[in-house]
Amino acid sequence: MSEGLAVFRGVLIRYVLPIAAAVSLVAFVGVPYIDRVLTGWFRTDIDQRTRLVMDLVREPLGQLLDDGQLARARNYLNSVAGDQRLLGMVVCDRLGEQVLITAQAPQIARCSPTAVEQPADRALTRTASGLLEIARFPFRTGAGGHYALLIVQDLDFIDRRQTTAHNYALAAIVILTSLLALMGGLAVRQLLNRWIRLLVGDISQRRFDEQADTSKFSLPVLNRVRQALEELEASQRLEIDFRENWTPQALQQVVREQLEQPLMLVVSNREPYVHSMGADGLPVAEFPASGMVTAVEPIVRACAGIWVAHGSGSADRMVVDLQDHVRVPPDDPSYTLRRVWLTEQEEEGHYYGFSNEGLWPLCHLAYVRPAFRESDWLQYVRVNEKFADALMAETDAADPVVLIQDFHFALLPKLVRARIPRATITLFWHIPWPNAETFGVCPWKQDILIHMLSADILGFHTRHHCQNFLDTLDRYIECKIDRENMRVTREGHVCRVTAYPISIEWPPRWLAQVADAVHCQAAVRERHGLGPEVRIGVGVERWDFTKGILERFHALEALFDKYPQWRGRLSFLQVAAPSRSKLPAYQALQTQTLEEVERINGRFATPDWKPIVLVAEHQQPVRVFELYRAADFCLVNSLHDGMNLVAKEFVAARDDCDGVLILSTFAGASRELVEALLVNPYDVGSTAEAIVAALDMPREQRRKRMQLMRRTVSESNVYRWAGRMLMDVARIRQRASLRGFKARV
Ligand code: G6P
Repeated sequence: MSEGLAVFRGVLIRYVLPIAAAVSLVAFVGVPYIDRVLTGWFRTDIDQRTRLVMDLVREPLGQLLDDGQLARARNYLNSVAGDQRLLGMVVCDRLGEQVLITAQAPQIARCSPTAVEQPADRALTRTASGLLEIARFPFRTGAGGHYALLIVQDLDFIDRRQTTAHNYALAAIVILTSLLALMGGLAVRQLLNRWIRLLVGDISQRRFDEQADTSKFSLPVLNRVRQALEELEASQRLEIDFRENWTPQALQQVVREQLEQPLMLVVSNREPYVHSMGADGLPVAEFPASGMVTAVEPIVRACAGIWVAHGSGSADRMVVDLQDHVRVPPDDPSYTLRRVWLTEQEEEGHYYGFSNEGLWPLCHLAYVRPAFRESDWLQYVRVNEKFADALMAETDAADPVVLIQDFHFALLPKLVRARIPRATITLFWHIPWPNAETFGVCPWKQDILIHMLSADILGFHTRHHCQNFLDTLDRYIECKIDRENMRVTREGHVCRVTAYPISIEWPPRWLAQVADAVHCQAAVRERHGLGPEVRIGVGVERWDFTKGILERFHALEALFDKYPQWRGRLSFLQVAAPSRSKLPAYQALQTQTLEEVERINGRFATPDWKPIVLVAEHQQPVRVFELYRAADFCLVNSLHDGMNLVAKEFVAARDDCDGVLILSTFAGASRELVEALLVNPYDVGSTAEAIVAALDMPREQRRKRMQLMRRTVSESNVYRWAGRMLMDVARIRQRASLRGFKARV
């Protein structure tokens, strides 16, 4: 049944039928009452007529009877009884004999012996031809004769008239009721439509937020609905923003209740589990070194759905089914990973070329020059299209929620929109967005921006990145930018640009497998040959030029130069997970790092102590968390970073409320973790001072700082990040369905 018909049916059942029932009830009680009133009126009328006839004939009739002119008296009475309803008259004498009878008088009117003596009366009689009234009037003539006149009236016409009146009344009630009900129904329907239109207008244009003047539609009910909606939205926002206990269950609740369990498709380049061949010849799954995966994986685990990603592991093909699906996590499968295979050429151009030699250095202010090659761009377009096709193949729903991750897929919003028009699309940019001038050097900037704007939501880590993005649009694209509400309209499509600071799951699931701080320290000391008196600093990164690895070694060098008392008493453990190693910039960094470690260690090392211990391999999360727990301080001095989740993981690992975080002001995390020791990574001298301050910091101050940071990260965990974004997705979908409803109505 169409929505229109359903509304009409609703109006019929809720308004028309009750009105009809009420009117029928009135008719049921009212019509007999009208009958009674009419009968009363007609009877009184007949009585008066009978009396009038009697008064009229009394004298002439008496005279004729006194004169014995019976024939003339009969003629006289016949002429009076010519009336339709006056059926006849009979004259009786004092002995009860019939003296005269008019021509049409019915047989039933008979004289009786007491006709003259009894006082006047009247009686109703039902005969075969209908209801009659016989009125009896004793009277005296001028000569003293004593008679009675019987006047017979036809009352059947009352019944006939009443039936007619009755029928007219019923017909009038039915017609009036129907008209009334129909008009009422139509009026209600129109009113409802108007309210819906106004409310949909309010909701879709977010008039609640903007305090628009809606006074011209000051219908009290409508205003109350608006107010209720406004309060609901405000309380939802408050709930999302101030809810303290964001858990997987809370997120599942959002998906269930606000989104109504849609098909969720996540797409990223890096897959959450990479299968490679183990020593025993069987495939083993590894968790990759990726902030994006660290953040997004717990969300997909909580919400299920399908994660589409590049199958990059050497044993990836061995574990998938015919649809290239594999259920993960391997130890407790809860969602499907769909692997997309790329040719070597595609990976070269898309991943290594345009993504990591073009966009990555373009977006990070690390003074590495971006390289833009047309061949890379063409592969970038091709791989984006390939993923769009893969997403479409995974969708049997008309309106899935598609959560696109990162700079590898800037073109996907438009490509997905073309294939699945009703999808709700978000693109989260996990890295910084540079200023307009910087982005302007990209030869395909317009294509990228236009494709991105097909998303419903574009998410960045900080408001500063959002502003940079809007400035970039302003500079290079024709579109309407509403900076107040952070929305961009292009070709009728509205795209929201919002800051969602990303985070980690709380508590990280790996922690359950990690020993307490004392045992972790012992294990780390033993593994890396660190003496009991040596304080431990840690750094955990992909081996990337944005991370400031060389700068931190220079800071350590400065420290050992300035504070020789720390020689032999401090070792810095650097985990550097090789990354994108095919690329010259990364190769150069690796070579330089090794050289610098050798040089600095060469300057200060003793036979049983090294200032820098470099672990140049990817470590699985449990090992990394062990390191965090063993450390006196963690140094995160990125030259530029969207958020940096190592900082948050370090805080999460320290449930002993110890350890100091030293954090770059150029990492997004520094906006939230203000109790960290903040440093400018380019200023190696002050970074060295920060390390010394961390080493000298009293236990109580370390505890207080860590407590505050733990509270921040636990409250602003990754479930909150996803919850806020999915609540916005839900609002967009609810508005879209209201707009669809309006169009159908
Ligand atoms: C950053 C990016 C991620 C990426 C990760 C690791 O965190 O934002 O999208 O996965 O680096 O880089 P890789 O190239 O190994 O995926």
